[in-house]
Amino acid sequence: MFRLTDFTYEGKTVFLRADLNSPVENGRITSDARFRAVLPTIRHLLEDGAKVVVATHQSRPYKGDYITTEEHAEILSRLLNQEVEYVEDIFGKNARERIGALKPGEVIMLENLRFSAEEVFYKPIEECEKTFFVRKLTPLIDYVVNDAFAAAHRSQPSLVGFARLKPMIMGELLEAEVDALSRAYESDDRPRVYILGGAKVDDSLRVAENVLRNGKADLILTGGLVGQIFTLAKGFDLGDANVGFLHRKGLLELVDWAERILDEFYPYVRTPVDFAVDYHEERLEVDLLGGDKRLFDEYPILDIGSRTVEKYREILDSAKIIVANGPMGVFEREGFAHGTVGVFRAIGESPAFSIVGGGHSIASVYRYNITGISHVSTGGGAMLSFFAGEELPVLKALEISYERFREGTDKPKTELSLLFHQ
Ligand code: 3PG
Repeated sequence: MFRLTDFTYEGKTVFLRADLNSPVENGRITSDARFRAVLPTIRHLLEDGAKVVVATHQSRPYKGDYITTEEHAEILSRLLNQEVEYVEDIFGKNARERIGALKPGEVIMLENLRFSAEEVFYKPIEECEKTFFVRKLTPLIDYVVNDAFAAAHRSQPSLVGFARLKPMIMGELLEAEVDALSRAYESDDRPRVYILGGAKVDDSLRVAENVLRNGKADLILTGGLVGQIFTLAKGFDLGDANVGFLHRKGLLELVDWAERILDEFYPYVRTPVDFAVDYHEERLEVDLLGGDKRLFDEYPILDIGSRTVEKYREILDSAKIIVANGPMGVFEREGFAHGTVGVFRAIGESPAFSIVGGGHSIASVYRYNITGISHVSTGGGAMLSFFAGEELPVLKALEISYERFREGTDKPKTELSLLFHQ
């Protein structure tokens, strides 16, 4: 695959596909983590004299955090200490004229890519090439740099559509992500501990199945809604309030699948021994064995309990590889961050090579100043897809582009691409 340093960019127009999809509260972005992560790539391009067109998606149509990229441009301007002009257009005349008028060292930010209908479907490269988005922008750009690791599991026009038309190059973030994730996945150092939390239960079950079946993990610790589904699969009752919630979320139907994983790998999947419920706005811990489990009937579980955190900490202390995705509870609520922060801190303190990811949950790593984690991944779903052993369309597109354009560049195939598993 092409690396950023394989080309020079003086006077060239570069389409930089980033993933700046960020958490939003009351219409405002609450974390700049993904912005900071792409700064090295943008700086490299600017120092080299490129004309940079940054593009990202933000959420999906009709969701509460589906906003324009105006604030994205503001945040990037502040972090880069130079103006990043917000262009309220994607591939229309206004955008094309602005791209055509760019000067070396200038940066613009296109409108939220998912404002265009073409960008909300998942289509193969050949279909993406036919979109107006790709057809209108291709004549204006020299190179495509993809630094959107967090969207690498999506096959959409801005992510894969240019691969056969222009050299598509890995950004520094994407390269670092793939490097770190491959290192964890391929490592034979033991024990290798995976921590699966958050609300993406089906994705997490796919990861559990893949890493256990292929001998990539020695132990799985669970929390968040993933932990609750596995707890039910072990035969514990989590009460009307919680079972009702999981039912409304469509997650109860996953209990059978979790049971099948336990049938095969029971000793290797650990579940919480206690949970914290929201008892009239107070944190109240309930032990699964000795506690008053009637509380589960009325009060929602919002975190794992302290005893679980301690048990997980002991395991993490002696781990050699740790991969963690998703929070242990509703860490955004005061009183219920204990599980997530406790486990993430234990990861940071462990001598293991460690990766923590999970979209918005990495915000907690920064909010609570947790240090010592080897790699904080910007990927949520993309990271889970990677560890589920699935092919990531963006990585595939980078390979295709490399094969198409390597002629003349005289570059050997990078070692990195050899690490990708199928
Ligand atoms: C993410 O946050 O996981 C990525 O930005 C991808 O977003 P999506 O799940 O809406 O495609």
